[in-house]
Amino acid sequence: MSKFYITTAIDYANGTPHLGHAYEKVLTDVIARYRRLMGDDVTFLTGLDEHGQKVQQSARDRGIEPIELCDEAAGQFQDLCRRLLISNDDFIRTTEERHKKVVNTLLQQLYDDGQIYQAEYTGYYSARAEQFLQEKDRVDGEWPEIYGDVVEISEKNYFFKLSQYQDWLIQYVKAHEDFIFPRFRAKQVIEFLKEPINDLCISRPKERLSWGIPLPFDPDYVTYVWFDALTNYISAVGYGTDSFSEYWPADFHVIGKDILVPPHAVYWPIMLKACGIELPKSLLVHGWWLTAGRKLSKSTGVVVNPLDLIDQFGADAFRYFVTREMNVGQDSEFSLDLFLSRYNSDLANDLGNLVNRTLNMTGRYLNREIAAQTDGDALEQEVRENWARTRDEVIGLYEEFQFHTALDRTFAFIKSINRYAEQRAPWKLAKSEDPADRELLGTCLSVMAESLRLATALAAPVMPGITDKVAVLLGHERAASWQEELEWSTVLSGNTLGEPTILFPRTNSKKS
Ligand code: ME8
Ligand code: MG
Repeated sequence: MSKFYITTAIDYANGTPHLGHAYEKVLTDVIARYRRLMGDDVTFLTGLDEHGQKVQQSARDRGIEPIELCDEAAGQFQDLCRRLLISNDDFIRTTEERHKKVVNTLLQQLYDDGQIYQAEYTGYYSARAEQFLQEKDRVDGEWPEIYGDVVEISEKNYFFKLSQYQDWLIQYVKAHEDFIFPRFRAKQVIEFLKEPINDLCISRPKERLSWGIPLPFDPDYVTYVWFDALTNYISAVGYGTDSFSEYWPADFHVIGKDILVPPHAVYWPIMLKACGIELPKSLLVHGWWLTAGRKLSKSTGVVVNPLDLIDQFGADAFRYFVTREMNVGQDSEFSLDLFLSRYNSDLANDLGNLVNRTLNMTGRYLNREIAAQTDGDALEQEVRENWARTRDEVIGLYEEFQFHTALDRTFAFIKSINRYAEQRAPWKLAKSEDPADRELLGTCLSVMAESLRLATALAAPVMPGITDKVAVLLGHERAASWQEELEWSTVLSGNTLGEPTILFPRTNSKKS
């Protein structure tokens, strides 16, 4: 079986995890879990981008070594993954030997090939910010105070010949419809490539930046930012060893829209092309989480700590919210009100009610035992048909990354079961001595339990924790194959249900 290899971006080590980071991992995890359930042999990589000026500076400010700062950050990001139930198979850190080795190999190969050259670079340098400024950094023609003294300096650096592949890349993007998802983002790439592109500066002199990977052909320099970071996707799966071809080309790089152009859609394809390595099959580009229209991130100062939400509401509720709200590719607005309202209406109310009613009534009327399920009449027939339709539609939506709609349909099914319960009114049937009513009571509660089993199985890629909990409550062991698990059945008949439990306690920490 060929492997399905999927990656996230690797997060900058000089910051704490925020909603954007958490979202990207959840999105990638939903896909990874979905593919596993569909039978693929999945490898899911995430990790940390550890080198660079900012890490060096933050470490210096705190009086610690850069690696200590990175160890701390790696702990935080790995903790985030664990608490979010992220099923990553590997976590790469760019300070690891396995990574540095591959960066060296690529650099040396390109240098030997004449694709990397040294040249003089002239620009405006701020010693205070320790960086080259650009014309756009000027405010009313002046350098803002925060940069201190700005001087024009020339320095030698190494450059990678990007421009020679410009025409090739344009053709490639035009010819490969599946290379960028959603498709409209490919236009941005083509737009960017209309102007001549500059060669890429890939180095910094060591005296300015020491926290980086030294160039193998000139130890007075280290690699700078993207050349180092992008290479993680191949270093993690053993580029240069026999097993590499089992993983590569990657099926998806999942990234945010800010790092599509130029890094992932221009630098990376050209780096690979120049090294004679196949391109990844697809870039899956998500939008941003915004609050009041501003991007949430460390640099904008607008930060939502996902760990607080996970602590308070659980990983499944967090995963549900971000997947339900974000139409992959678009931006989405985050607010606590929106979070609470989804939590209360969809999870505490719709799903919570179905769980409670099923457990409570089966406990009260049937001594917790699921009865034999008879065909029932038109109402039950409708439930079974609704299920088959829902399942087929949702699988189709998963295939198309329409996760928000997939959840909408799954929860519409859950709501329809609550309506079914109202119509069938088992609390009335329970009062009757008529054997036909007793049989219908058994069937009704059994249909509710079966629907709950199926709906939570279908939501498993998004809410793995709850799916498992519900299976335990239903006394059910999930089938080895997902396809089988998603078939309407009578597997629950005779099972003894667990004690009534509140999976999602209602919250009124704010109005809903
Ligand atoms: O860019 N909403 O790291 P990073 C959604 N190290 N996604 C967001 C977001 C938001 N508000 N803010 C950030 C880097 N992201 C590089 C990547 S990959 C070889 C190197 C996403 O920590 C962002 O789009 O700034 C990116 O995909 C990821 O979080 C890491 O961002
Ligand atoms: Mg960023």
